[in-house]
Amino acid sequence: MKILAIESSCDESACAIVEDGRHVLANVVASQADLHASFGGVVPEIASREHIHAMMPVVDRCLKLAKLEFSDIDCIAVTAGPGLIGALLVGVSVAKALAFALNKNLYAIHHIAAHIAGNFLTHPDFEAPFLCLVVSGGHSHLIHCDESWHFKIIGRTRDDAAGEALDKIARALKLPYPGGPKIEAEAQSGKLGQLRFPKVKIEHPYDYSFSGVKSAALNYLQKIEAEAKRRNCSAEAIISRSDFCADYQEAIFSQLTEKAMAACRDLSVERFAIAGGVAANQTLRNRLANACELEGIRFFAPERKYCTDNAAMVGSICYYEILAGAKPATWDLNAKSTWDAEQYLKNAPVI
Ligand code: KG4
Ligand code: ZN
Repeated sequence: MKILAIESSCDESACAIVEDGRHVLANVVASQADLHASFGGVVPEIASREHIHAMMPVVDRCLKLAKLEFSDIDCIAVTAGPGLIGALLVGVSVAKALAFALNKNLYAIHHIAAHIAGNFLTHPDFEAPFLCLVVSGGHSHLIHCDESWHFKIIGRTRDDAAGEALDKIARALKLPYPGGPKIEAEAQSGKLGQLRFPKVKIEHPYDYSFSGVKSAALNYLQKIEAEAKRRNCSAEAIISRSDFCADYQEAIFSQLTEKAMAACRDLSVERFAIAGGVAANQTLRNRLANACELEGIRFFAPERKYCTDNAAMVGSICYYEILAGAKPATWDLNAKSTWDAEQYLKNAPVI
C-alpha cells in the first residue's frame, strides 16, 4: 500500500510516499528555519504563509522523486494536530483537496504518534512492547506501548518541552532558531562542571520539568552579564559559551535519562526508543544508548532525518493504523491545535 503523507504542523512543509509502513519511496522536507532564525522562534503567521507557497511544489517533487503518478497512490495521510493551527490548516486543506480530487481515503494522524514511527522507518526489527521518549519543541512524553500495541503516557513535562527549553536559552545566547542544534554544536567543545543547575523535585516518578533549569540558566546569564560589566570585560571571559551550553544541555539530558531509565526498570521493558527533534542530538543519543547498555535494554533511535519533522513518519504510522482498522476521516476534518495524545493513541491502536 502506497501512502502519500503530508506534514505541516510547525515550520517544515513536508511530503513523503511510504510503502507498507516501512519503505520510504520519497521524502521531501522544505524547512522554513532560515525565515524564522532571526526571530528566535517560529512566527506562526510567517509559517502559514510559507506553507501555502511550499506545499504543492513539495508534493510534486515527492511524486517525481518516487517516479510515481497520483494514480499510483492508495490513500492520503495528514498531520491534523497538535501544532500551529494556521500551519496545520494548510496541510489539512491540501490533503483534503487531493483525497477528494483523487477519490482516495484520507487519514488524520496525530503528530506525536507519527514521531514514534520514525523508529519503524529506521529499524525493521522495532516491535512492541517498548518505552518511547518523545522529545521535541512542543512535547516531552514518556510513552509505554504494551505487547498488544496499547499505548499509555506514563510521564510528561509539567511545563516547557525539552526542545523549547533549549530554544529559549539559545535565543538568550543570541543563537539563531532552532536553538537545539546550535547548543549541541557549542557544547561539543565545552567543559562540563562550571555551573550547577537545580535538581528537579517532582513527586511523580516519570514527569519532567524544565522551567526551573531554564530560569536558573537565565539567572546565570544575567549575573554573568552584570559581572562582566563590573569587571569591564566580555561575558565570554567569565564563562565560555561552549562551557555554558555543555552544562545546560547536560542538566536537561540528565533529567531525561534518569527518569526514562527509572521507568524502564519499573516496567521491565526490553526495548527503549527515542523520537522527536531533540532525539537528533548525538550527545543525548549516546547518553541514552550507554544508559540502556548498562540496564541490558535494546536502544532504538530514528535516523536523524526522521527525528525532526517529516512526512515519512506520518505515512508509516498511518499504514499501521489502517491495518488496525482506523476509519478514514470525513470531509469535515479540521486541524486541531491541541489534541490529547493518550486519547488518540487509545482510539487508534497500532498493530
Ligand atoms: O520534532 P520537531 O522537528 O518539531 C516539533 O514537533 O516541535 O522538533 C523541533 C525541536 C526544536 O526545539 C529544536 O531545537 C530541537 O527539536 N532540535 C534539537 C536538535 N535538532 C532539533 N535539539 C537538540 N539537538 C539537536 N540536534
Ligand atoms: Zn515534531
